[in-house]
Amino acid sequence: MATEARTIAVLKGGYSAEREVSLRSGEAVARGLREAGCEVDEVDVTAPEPPIRAGVEAAFIALHGEYGEDGGIQQYLERIGLPYTGSDPVGSRAAFDKILTKEALARAGLPTAPYEILGPDGARSLPLPVVVKPPRQGSSLGLSVVRREEEWAPALREAGRYDSRVLVEAFIEGRELTVGAVDGEALPAVEIRAPGGTYDYRAKYVDRATEYLVPAALAPGIAAEVGRLALRTFEALGCGGFGRVDFRLDSAGRLFILELNSIPGFTETSLLPKAAAAAGLSFSALCDRILSTARLHGDRMRGT
Ligand SMILES: Nc1ncnc2c1ncn2[C@@H]1O[C@H](COP(=O)(O)OP(=O)(O)O)[C@@H](O)[C@H]1O
Ligand SMILES: [Mg+2]
Repeated sequence: MATEARTIAVLKGGYSAEREVSLRSGEAVARGLREAGCEVDEVDVTAPEPPIRAGVEAAFIALHGEYGEDGGIQQYLERIGLPYTGSDPVGSRAAFDKILTKEALARAGLPTAPYEILGPDGARSLPLPVVVKPPRQGSSLGLSVVRREEEWAPALREAGRYDSRVLVEAFIEGRELTVGAVDGEALPAVEIRAPGGTYDYRAKYVDRATEYLVPAALAPGIAAEVGRLALRTFEALGCGGFGRVDFRLDSAGRLFILELNSIPGFTETSLLPKAAAAAGLSFSALCDRILSTARLHGDRMRGT
């Protein structure tokens, strides 16, 4: 047992579209780590390369979206030699870019919805319904479900506000599951029941009618399979430490991987902490466990 408290920087806020969510995650993580006996320095990140004061031993990154999940802050922390939580720059980038994710999943032979990548005025070849997504956005910003032909052009325009490339995926009718993992271990799956069937920005942050079933009621075979696929997704993308993998489950019992969130929402009521609680891990113990995985990845970085 260490006798002196560890001093940890909690990096929060950031300047992505998810700043507000990140401020809440960071505050919760700071409370959790203090409860676990750490001394915490809360750093509100408002520009790249935030100054970290001397004496800090590691960083807990609670930033979502750009410069938090895309490998940017991770690269900076590698450079200044400060161990940090979560995935390294290469894994972060692969998880953040949904096109890179699709390619890595396909290479690994993991199940994911059929897809295509279009330019700003690209022609679609997948039949409706489809989901149109800008590849580098979280929180479902710029994402639309297209069920009828007349919804296609507005969806393409909306996604095009965020990126010149657009990811189009076959819409998977069915249930929505998400699986958190910490340090190579999958937590119980959570089922998300959003009123409209799509866990979009409204369902995430506006409507409170979304239901979360923790743990999800699943046939034992599917519960085991979704956990196994979550861990294989971490491997395929080169991610580690912690994160959350989103899935669709169709009526035939087939699972489709949507994406890996390398720094998922982290308030006490966020999905990964809820799943951890269902597995008997308190919020504070969860923060501490994730902190114990904090490290530098210098060797891997040199090898790529
Ligand atoms: N192929 C798909 N089929 C059905 N629903 C989808 C599909 N892709 C995304 N969705 C819906 O949109 C939500 C957000 O998509 P996701 O790929 O997880 O991106 P993000 O959460 O980063 O915005 C999902 O949680 C799901 O409800
Ligand atoms: Mg998602």
